[in-house]
Amino acid sequence: MNIAIVGGGTRCKRLLEIFERHKFEEIDPKVLAVADFKSDAPGVAKAKNNGLFVTNDYNDFFKRSDIDLIIELTGSMDIYNDILNKKKKNVRAIAHTTAQLFWEIYRLSTLQKKTDQELHETTAKYKMLINELIQEDVLVIAYDYRIVDINDSLLKRLGLKREEVIGKHCYEITHRQNTPCSGEKHPCPLVQTMETDKPSQTTHIHLDKNNQEIYYSISTYPLRENDDTIGAIEISRDITKDINAQKAMMQQEKLASIGRLSAGVAHEINNPLTTILTTAMLIQEELDPEDSNFEDLETITKEALRCRKIVASLLDFARQLEPSKKENNINDIIQESIVLTKKQAAFKDIALVQELTDDIPAVFADKGQIEQALINLMLNAIEATDSGGKIATSSSYNVDAKSVEVRISDSGEGISPDDLSRIFDPFFTTKEEGTGLGLAITHGIIEQHNGTIDVDSKLGKGTTFKILLPTKARYGENNAAR
Ligand SMILES: Nc1ncnc2c1ncn2[C@@H]1O[C@H](COP(=O)(O)OP(=O)(O)O)[C@@H](O)[C@H]1O
Ligand SMILES: [Mg+2]
Repeated sequence: MNIAIVGGGTRCKRLLEIFERHKFEEIDPKVLAVADFKSDAPGVAKAKNNGLFVTNDYNDFFKRSDIDLIIELTGSMDIYNDILNKKKKNVRAIAHTTAQLFWEIYRLSTLQKKTDQELHETTAKYKMLINELIQEDVLVIAYDYRIVDINDSLLKRLGLKREEVIGKHCYEITHRQNTPCSGEKHPCPLVQTMETDKPSQTTHIHLDKNNQEIYYSISTYPLRENDDTIGAIEISRDITKDINAQKAMMQQEKLASIGRLSAGVAHEINNPLTTILTTAMLIQEELDPEDSNFEDLETITKEALRCRKIVASLLDFARQLEPSKKENNINDIIQESIVLTKKQAAFKDIALVQELTDDIPAVFADKGQIEQALINLMLNAIEATDSGGKIATSSSYNVDAKSVEVRISDSGEGISPDDLSRIFDPFFTTKEEGTGLGLAITHGIIEQHNGTIDVDSKLGKGTTFKILLPTKARYGENNAAR
């Protein structure tokens, strides 16, 4: 069997070594070619040393007629799919995890005729393979959803013992369900693989104990015996961090483009608005207050002023400058924000309570910007709370996050679950006179400070916004690591 390898990294080097070291039954694997655009990658170097064909473009493989199998070792699903599309029918292609497992399983099945000792050795090696070499969660599942094998990584995550898992249905163990997974959020990749005989990939969305979404990327590879697919190897990985980073990036891009758009529009609107305002005021000055038009002009002025306010917040939103960061005590910033919002709270007879932790590490922050962020949150809280209510602002040190934590909690109307996912979107507002920009600005500011902002809300009960701002020490660590 003639093999070509895509990806000349350490995996490729290791595979070349396995071929050198091990004798294979029946099939006689021979690597003929390696492709990688990095000519100094370790696998490429070894391939050159062994006198193999080396190229920087795996498309060269499709031109050759002597290749039986292409092994994808870069780990990229895109490249793997591209290979599946371009390869000739009689050429096989596999991804690297499958490759390693299959050889061992193949050896296992041919070994049945051999001695117990040998069988034991191979089983041990196969176990080592799925337990140690593969860091992802691995399940070997039979066609009837029964678990044949599981690796330590997954056992540990599930908090179960091997004997509690083997022979059970996969959906009982990983989803605590009585029926196989199905539907949009939980499609079953095993079914897909059994039907098509091909690898299948899907993403499952679960909720953790804090109701946060966790994303699992799940790939299944067919497990074949005598031309029959008898089950699948399922490899899953927690990709929540990747997905969240992607979401944050999209949100930031969205904000940036809306920012640019807003800046342009706001500038255009500002001038005619000023003309309307001054003209209305001039005419009004010349009129007798008893005149029937006087009140209409009053309305024009009032509404034009309201537009001006919106334009001003648009410009604020667009003008999200790079923060100029200095060491600051968060308690000072909180207290100043409270001074500036005290009047609005007193007007509605709302109590502003402070629960500040003394001796708190300094944050490296732009004081004006953080103050603006906190004021936005406090004004929202005041607007959402009925008279007689309470708004508490607290500061503390979050050891796990190495961050200063600020919470603003109100006893107000709360936010409906539907609205909750949209409140940080620019222009999202449930208020007649709202601009929907306060939280978008706040979100932008906290992000510019490498911090996070989360919200927890119950309709009719109240809302808590939680901000984490990295302390100076962590900021320094991050920079040093870069
Ligand atoms: N503390 C809060 N309690 C209830 N709802 C809130 C609170 N803070 C924000 N919201 C919701 O989020 C929306 C967006 O807020 P924001 O971006 O500040 O815009 P605006 O205040 O102009 O409506 C609000 O219209 C409101 O529905
Ligand atoms: Mg607001």
